[in-house]
Amino acid sequence: MKYVLIILTVLSIGSCKVSDNSKEKLKRTDKIVVAHRGASGYLPEHTIAAKAMAYAMQPDYIEQDLVLSKDDVPVVIHDIYLDDVTNVESVFPERKREDGRYYVIDFTFEELQKLNVTERFNTKDGKQFYPNRFPKGISSFKLHSLQQEIELIQGLNKSTGHTIGIYPEIKNPAFHHKNGKDIAKITLDVLSKYGYNTKDDKCIFQCFDAKELERVRKELKSQLFLVQLIEFPEETKQFSHFATYADGVGPWYKQIVDKKENGEWVFTSLVADAHKLGLKVHTYTLRADQLGEFSSFQENIKVLLEEANVDGCFTDFPDKVISVLEE
Ligand code: G3P
Ligand code: CA
Repeated sequence: MKYVLIILTVLSIGSCKVSDNSKEKLKRTDKIVVAHRGASGYLPEHTIAAKAMAYAMQPDYIEQDLVLSKDDVPVVIHDIYLDDVTNVESVFPERKREDGRYYVIDFTFEELQKLNVTERFNTKDGKQFYPNRFPKGISSFKLHSLQQEIELIQGLNKSTGHTIGIYPEIKNPAFHHKNGKDIAKITLDVLSKYGYNTKDDKCIFQCFDAKELERVRKELKSQLFLVQLIEFPEETKQFSHFATYADGVGPWYKQIVDKKENGEWVFTSLVADAHKLGLKVHTYTLRADQLGEFSSFQENIKVLLEEANVDGCFTDFPDKVISVLEE
């Protein structure tokens, strides 16, 4: 009931009605909208509440970043660390490593349940990262597993009749290997158990580590839709190789938008290069409260999805992106 009230309230205040005279209207079905860490613009990232709220906004996919616990449970959390989104420092003060950080893999899933999750904050000064988002430290949110999140989404798919997909990302596979853990294999096994095996199963599997994603296709023989995330511009030179195992690429939007010249946006060749090789482009991350060079969120959305012609985007504000696409 609590989630339903949150969802209804925020949907009514969070929807963005855009007035626009553009004759070229985007068709909602042409583009993939991914709820980045859930509806993370409104509720603490990667909490079940943020996922339920995202679901109510009807994106195409909801994202799960994954890190393994000590007992090999895939936990939905963005980093291998716990200290910038939980109260781990006050619950387990003695479990800090020498570098001053608290690591997810040092805790069993049962221990992780003792932590409260909060809005992301800076560990040095305690200030929340996005000051106008959900207030840090209030209400009650917990960490959860990939299994629990899949059950939420599949349960909602059944009860609502919609078919919203999942978009899992394995975080830092090299770090996991170094610690004797095969996060790719463990994650693929969970996905398979819940019916995600092929490109038709509404599951897109993503990773920044190219060697590991190639392994997912060639050694672990996954038939899922694979997206190679890109962090550095020089990685765009490897698109032909990415196309041997991946179905799409996930670049930072700044690798696509070059500059504004005489009032017009100028783009790099990234999207065209990817499309020539048959790769889809899902860019990250569109945020209404971090506009960068754009004068409005509407402009941000249109420049990427319409002018640059990407195939989809990750966003902390799925309701606002969908609103523009449905205009
Ligand atoms: O996974 C793509 C998108 O989520 C951007 O990366 O760092 O937020 O996981 P990150
Ligand atoms: Ca991610």
